[in-house]
Amino acid sequence: MIIYVNILIEYKFMNAPKYVNPFRPGAGHMPPYLAGRDSEIKEFLKLLDQEIILSNLVLTGLRGVGKTVLLDTFKPMAFNKKWLWVGTDLSESASVSEEIIAQRLLADLSVVTAGIGVKRAAPSVGFATLQSFEEKTLNFQTLTEIYKSIPGLVSDKIKGVLQLAWTCVQAHGVKGIVFAYDEAQTMSDHSEKDQYPLSLLLDVFQSIQKKNIPFMLVLVGLPTLFPKLVEARTFAERMFDVVMLHKLKPEDCREAISKPIKSCQSSIVFDDNSITLICETSGGYPYFIQFICKETFDIWVQQMTVEGATKPIPVREITQKLDKDFFAGRWARATDRQRELLSIIATLENADGEFTVQEIVIAAKAMANPFGASQVNQMLSALSDSGLIYKNRHGKYAFAVPLLGSFILRQAAEITMPLFT
Ligand SMILES: Nc1ncnc2c1ncn2[C@@H]1O[C@H](COP(=O)(O)OP(=O)(O)O)[C@@H](O)[C@H]1O
Ligand SMILES: [Mg+2]
Repeated sequence: MIIYVNILIEYKFMNAPKYVNPFRPGAGHMPPYLAGRDSEIKEFLKLLDQEIILSNLVLTGLRGVGKTVLLDTFKPMAFNKKWLWVGTDLSESASVSEEIIAQRLLADLSVVTAGIGVKRAAPSVGFATLQSFEEKTLNFQTLTEIYKSIPGLVSDKIKGVLQLAWTCVQAHGVKGIVFAYDEAQTMSDHSEKDQYPLSLLLDVFQSIQKKNIPFMLVLVGLPTLFPKLVEARTFAERMFDVVMLHKLKPEDCREAISKPIKSCQSSIVFDDNSITLICETSGGYPYFIQFICKETFDIWVQQMTVEGATKPIPVREITQKLDKDFFAGRWARATDRQRELLSIIATLENADGEFTVQEIVIAAKAMANPFGASQVNQMLSALSDSGLIYKNRHGKYAFAVPLLGSFILRQAAEITMPLFT
């Protein structure tokens, strides 16, 4: 028996590459084929062609829609057009104070300036203190020393360093520098501590761009990001082009599934019906596409007895796994009362789109313990802080996690089912 199983396994994996799963569900994991983002790429390329930076980019959308991987795709495109690229993932801690965000900018900038000497640029910069830096390269330490030597507020100091850095970098035939920050919705001003790091970032870039320094901001984040920027500085409305990523169109969704299979020349075949089913089940959301395809591929590899023959997709089992892996953690963080509210929202016809406080209050009327408008308002605000809901610019609300409504309905069905059987 053991020998038989061994032979079977060897038979299956003899041509191992045929069974290497090409799909990549996971935050920031580049998909085997990046489907349906041509117009967003065009938009970014247009921004790179600006001689004077009048527009910066906000790339936004729900979790798992493909913001991070699109940002990674932009990077080589910027290099091709002679731009340098700096930046990182932001976290709450990056925007604790103005000083910390300034340090962040210096650290990021130093990555591309570390090999460049100050000397060539020094005469044209105009800081008296610069003579002492002439023999140095623009590494983090030198940038920090220059920063400290400039009098004034944090914003004056950081602007001075950025200006100097551009004078040095410019001499090397560079078109500009992209400052790209992912998870930028984590940034905030803190009026209670008199610290305005988010406003500082916007002020600094607006000011240096006015001086024709081609440093472009690319901020990536959840849909709360842009309203937050505008709240901090109203001019942010005009400073950014907003590119909102949506779920993939049906034809792009089909390509996201079929192209990786074709190009990995696998023995596993996703026929037309399977592809349609995956498109429907995933709702066209990139993370779900990768997840369902990866699971299906793995299951089929194990079930395959004859080359090319596959069984139906076990949608129910895969959905259960997705619920555990993706939704359950987020759901667990909500309180019982919040879950009641979310369950009411999930029953709204427009749960997958935008909804209002009024609609929730009306739907909740039939409950034993209904919700009043001010209570709903308060709870929605707490739910946005925990990343389950967001308020858009028109004052309407939406789920911040794709397909959350269907997940909630599945939970409700599982809880109530035994009661009826
Ligand atoms: N255009 C796309 N086509 C196919 N898969 C994609 C696409 N964009 C993203 N993905 C996949 O979706 C998942 C989530 O991508 P990610 O960039 O981390 O999303 P976000 O940053 O918006 O949360 C990853 O597994 C990635 O491979
Ligand atoms: Mg991301």
